[in-house]
Order: sequence, then C-alpha cells, then structure tokens
Amino acid sequence: MKHFISVEDLSPESMYQLFSLAESLETKKIRPKWEDYFAVNVFLEPSTRTRHSFQMAEQKLGINVLNATNEDCSMTKGESLLDTIKTFEALGAHFAVIRQSETGALQSLADHISLPIINAGDGTGEHPTQSLLDLYTIYKEFGTFHQLKVTIAGDIKHSRVARSNAYMLKKLGAHIQFAAKPAFREPERESDYLSMDEAVKDSDVLMLLRIQHERHDCAHHDADYLTQYGLTLDREKQMKDHAIILHPAPVNRGVEIEGSLVESQRSRIFKQMTNGVHIRMALIHHILKEEYTYENSFQERQAT
Ligand code: CP
Repeated sequence: MKHFISVEDLSPESMYQLFSLAESLETKKIRPKWEDYFAVNVFLEPSTRTRHSFQMAEQKLGINVLNATNEDCSMTKGESLLDTIKTFEALGAHFAVIRQSETGALQSLADHISLPIINAGDGTGEHPTQSLLDLYTIYKEFGTFHQLKVTIAGDIKHSRVARSNAYMLKKLGAHIQFAAKPAFREPERESDYLSMDEAVKDSDVLMLLRIQHERHDCAHHDADYLTQYGLTLDREKQMKDHAIILHPAPVNRGVEIEGSLVESQRSRIFKQMTNGVHIRMALIHHILKEEYTYENSFQERQAT
C-alpha cells in the first residue's frame, strides 16, 4: 500500500497486521526511529483531533513535521493542491497527510504524484484513519467483528466517517444498521434503518455522529433532536450491559448525546483518540517501510 486514500486500499488481513503493530508500538515492544524523515500535514479544513493525532504519531516515530493550512500556504494565491504537494516533495518530505473539502480529490492527486498520500478526510467522501481507530477500539473491546451489531446513528448522509466505517465493518463480518432522522438518511440504505429506541436495545456498539452543518444545503436546527434522535439518559439505560458508545468527535453535547454520557462508563470517546495515535503510528511506519526501506535496499543492491 503506497497511499491510504480509502479503506478499500486495506485488506482485512493488512488491517489486523496494523492492529498488532499498533499494540507493539503502544507497549514499546518495537521502537522504530525515522529521524531523517519528514512528514507534511496539509489541513485545509479545521481539525483538532486528526491533525494533532498525526503530529503526535509522527513525532513519537521520530519524524520531523511540517504543517500547512489554508491560512498560511500559497494556495490562497491560487496555487493548486497538486503543486503544493509537489513543492513539499521537492523540499524533501517523505509523505503527506491531507485534509480537504473536495470529495474524491485525493485519488486523482495520488495518480499524479509519487509521494505517499494519507487521507485525513475528504469532504463527504472518506475518513479512513478515523475508521482505523474506530475499528481498533472495537477490536480491543470485543476481540472480533464477527456478528457484532454496530449501529451508526446521526447524520449518515453527510458523514465520511459513516461511509468508511460501514464499508469496512461489513467486510469484517459485523452487522451494520443505521439510525437517523429521514433528512440524514441515504435512500439506498432505507431498509437498514431503525429508530433510536430500537437501536439502543439491539446494539453492541453505538456509534454516534455529529450533525455536519457545514455540509448541508439548508439549515437543520431541531430543538428536540436529542429526544427524537439522540442518546438520552433514558435510552442509555436500555443498552445491553456490555454495549459501548463511540463518537468520532467533535461532540455537540446535548444534541446527539446527553452531555454527561460522554464521560459515562460505556463511553470510549476519549479512548478512541488515544488509540488513534497508536494506529496512525502503525500506518505511517507501515507506509514508510514499504516505500523507503525496500527502495533503499533495492538501490543499495543495484549499486553493488
Ligand atoms: N474526528 C475528527 O476528524 O476530528 P477533527 O475534525 O477534530 O480532526
């Protein structure tokens, strides 16, 4: 795997290998050092978790980090994303982590560049490293995906997290279902929807989503969204004993989830963020090893 643009780039076998590598990195069984390597993190949409999680992962691996945002790079002067990334490649970066708002744009970028690209979220397209950390969190909890009932609840239609997770969880043998108000559903999946009251009783994993106001054509502000479609205190009491709550965050407390449930015993919301650093370390280590270690040893062999 040279680039990581979509969860479809990763086989289930490779994903399990990344989980194992993430565990080894977390427990410091292996301590890779990439001191001579440079990452560039290009974030053209706001981000707290993904951007700083990548930076943390990179620095823990010893990688030098360059950062670019739409406030401080020459894209504001009309430079294209392709030329921006080619510039960082020319400067000596070894891979780029990119978040931007155009759905699907990173695939065509990757087709025109040799620098490995990691998708940190593209419009309503995909958020594959969020999916990796969500799946890693579920795997650590249950040790399997087979037959697990996972409900993804909230603004499914505009969520790149829902898209990546639904694809990968299904491939891994989980049973996926959705809960959403009608305007937030994807019509082609209508038969897979259930009410939030049904979802809480039926799920092993309840994955909540933020309303993606920034991606809506018209305003959606429901005063009763929490009671109609969200996770209230009453609904949480009806969840199975072992069931857990996930949320990619940022969380809008009191909208998709009652605020106090973010810190409840079932919640893995902050654990997801911690797991995100380790799984991103594993992903970066894997990509660098495939891209550069092999190439270097190949070049060395050619030179002798
Ligand atoms: N989960 C996530 O992508 O959060 P940020 O937008 O803060 O990166």
